[in-house]
Amino acid sequence: MKMRLELFLVVSALICATGKPLSKATARNKLLLISFDGFRWDYDQDVDTPNLDQLVKDGVKAKYVTPPMLTMTSPSHFTTITGRWVEDHEVVHNMMFNSTTNLKVPHKQTLSRSEWWNNGVLPLWITAQNQGLKTASFYYPGGGANYSGQAVNRALLEKFDHVDDNETEWRENIDKVMSWFSDEDFHLVTLYYGEPDNVGHAKGPDHPDRKKIIQQIDRTIGYLRGAISRHHLNDKLNVIITSDHGMTTVKKRPLVDEIILNKYLNLLKLASFEILDYGGFGILTPRPGKEQEVYDALSNAPNLTVYKKSELPESFRLAKSERLPPIVIVADLGFNLNSRFIVYVNRGDHGYHNGEMDMKTIFRAFGPDFKKNFVSEPFDSVHVYPLMCKLLQIEPAPHNGSLSVTEELLHGTGGSTARLSAALLLSMLLFVFTAP
Ligand SMILES: *[C@@H]1O[C@H](CO)[C@@H](O)[C@H](O)[C@H]1NC(C)=O
Ligand SMILES: *[C@@H]1O[C@H](CO)[C@@H](O)[C@H](O)[C@H]1NC(C)=O
Ligand SMILES: *[C@@H]1O[C@H](CO)[C@@H](O)[C@H](O)[C@H]1NC(C)=O
Ligand SMILES: *[C@@H]1O[C@H](CO)[C@@H](O)[C@H](O)[C@H]1NC(C)=O
Ligand SMILES: *[C@@H]1O[C@H](CO)[C@@H](O)[C@H](O)[C@H]1NC(C)=O
Ligand SMILES: [Zn+2]
Repeated sequence: MKMRLELFLVVSALICATGKPLSKATARNKLLLISFDGFRWDYDQDVDTPNLDQLVKDGVKAKYVTPPMLTMTSPSHFTTITGRWVEDHEVVHNMMFNSTTNLKVPHKQTLSRSEWWNNGVLPLWITAQNQGLKTASFYYPGGGANYSGQAVNRALLEKFDHVDDNETEWRENIDKVMSWFSDEDFHLVTLYYGEPDNVGHAKGPDHPDRKKIIQQIDRTIGYLRGAISRHHLNDKLNVIITSDHGMTTVKKRPLVDEIILNKYLNLLKLASFEILDYGGFGILTPRPGKEQEVYDALSNAPNLTVYKKSELPESFRLAKSERLPPIVIVADLGFNLNSRFIVYVNRGDHGYHNGEMDMKTIFRAFGPDFKKNFVSEPFDSVHVYPLMCKLLQIEPAPHNGSLSVTEELLHGTGGSTARLSAALLLSMLLFVFTAP
C-alpha cells in the first residue's frame, strides 16, 4: 500500500509537470510557403480535389483569405511576405514605373529590379536571415531583389519564357525544395507557381481548363505530401498554401458596353502618365492643373469608381503611397479599363475591389505546429506574416498584421495530445507496478 501511494504521488507530479507549457523547449520547425497564383477561394468546390480535401482533415483551412487592396500579383505577394500594407511597402503595381519619365517595365523584368521592391520594408527572408536562419525563394515575387544591400540566401527567378503549367517541372521543383530542407538545412523556402492565374486570364474562371489545372494542382499537393514523407520531414516541416488574389470573368460585348475611357476624357490632352488596359485597376497622372477636370470627367464614366489619391478610403491602405499617381480608378467587377481601343484579350482578370468575393483567395496549412481538422473564419492575408514569424520563432519586423488573428490555427502551447498521452502512459505504468 505504501508503495502504491508513493507511486501515485510521483505519477501525479509528472502529470502536472507535463501539463506546463512546453513552448520554450519546442524545437524550431521549418516552413514552406507555397503560392498558387490566382487561386480563387472557391476553385476547389466544383472539381474533385482529394488531396486538398485531405489537407483540411490533416491541417487547417481558412474559409477564405482577403488580399490587400490592390488585388494584383506583386503588391499582394509582397504584403504576405512583409506583413505590410501596400501603401507602406510601395510595390503598387506589377509593373515598375516612373510617372515623371514615363518609364514602364514589364512584370517579369520588374521581378529583378531591386529599386522597385526595396523601399525600406524588409521581407521575411531578410528578417529571418538577420536572425541566423537560412532562406530561399523559388520564383516567389520579390525574392530576386536586394533589400538594404542584402540578397535572399538562394533565389531562383523565372525565365521570361517560363512555361507555367508543366506538371513534371512542378514536381522537380518540389524535389529541389525538399532537398534544400533536408540536405542543406534551409529553414524557410517560398515556392511560387504561375497557375491557375495563367489559365484564369486566358480562358476565364468558368472554363473547363481551369478545373483541369485545379486537378493538376491537387495532384501536385499529393506529390508534395509524398515528398515530405520521403525526406522524413513530416514532423519538422510546416507548410502554408495560399495565393495572392482570385479571378473573375471579364464582361465583354454584347453582354455589356465595354468602358473606353477616352470617350470621357481626352487622355492625350489631360494625362501625362497612365497605366490602363491592365484589368480593373488603373492609374493616371493629370497634366498640371488638370486634376479636377480629369476627376470630374471620370466621375461621369459608368461601371467604375474614380478616386483622388488623397481621398482614397482608409480601408484601402493605399493613400499614403508616394508612388501612386494622383488618380486611381477601380473598375466595377469584371470591367476592363480600356484606354482608347479594345485591344484587351483576357477572359478573366483581377485587380478589383478586395471586398468582392471573386477576389478572395485560399489558405491551407499543415505540419507539426498546426491544428488538425480546423476550419477558421476568413482573415486578411496581412496576418499571415506574424504567423510565419511565430512558426520560425523569430522576432518580426514592424508589420500591420496581428498574431491574435492567426494564432488560433496553431496547437496550444505544448499540445494537449502530448499531455494526454503522457498521462495515459503513466497510468499504465502505475497499473503494472501496483498490480498484485
Ligand atoms: C523618376 O525619375 C526621375 C528622373 O530621373 C527621378 O528624379 C525620380 O526620383 C524618379 N521617381 C521615382 C519615384 O523613382
Ligand atoms: C544584389 O546585390 C549583389 C551584390 O551587390 C549584386 O551582384 C546583384 O546584382 C544584386 N541583385 C539585384 C537584383 O539587384
Ligand atoms: C516539362 O518539364 C520537364 C522537366 O523539366 C522537361 O523535360 C520538359 O521538356 C518540359 N515540357 C515542356 C513542354 O516544356
Ligand atoms: C454599367 O453602367 C451602366 C450605365 O450606368 C448601367 O446601366 C449598367 O447596369 C452597368 N453594368 C453593370 C454590370 O453594372
Ligand atoms: C503599418 O505598420 C507600420 C509599421 O509599424 C506603421 O508605421 C503603420 O502606421 C501601420 N499602418 C497602419 C494603417 O496601421
Ligand atoms: Zn497573381
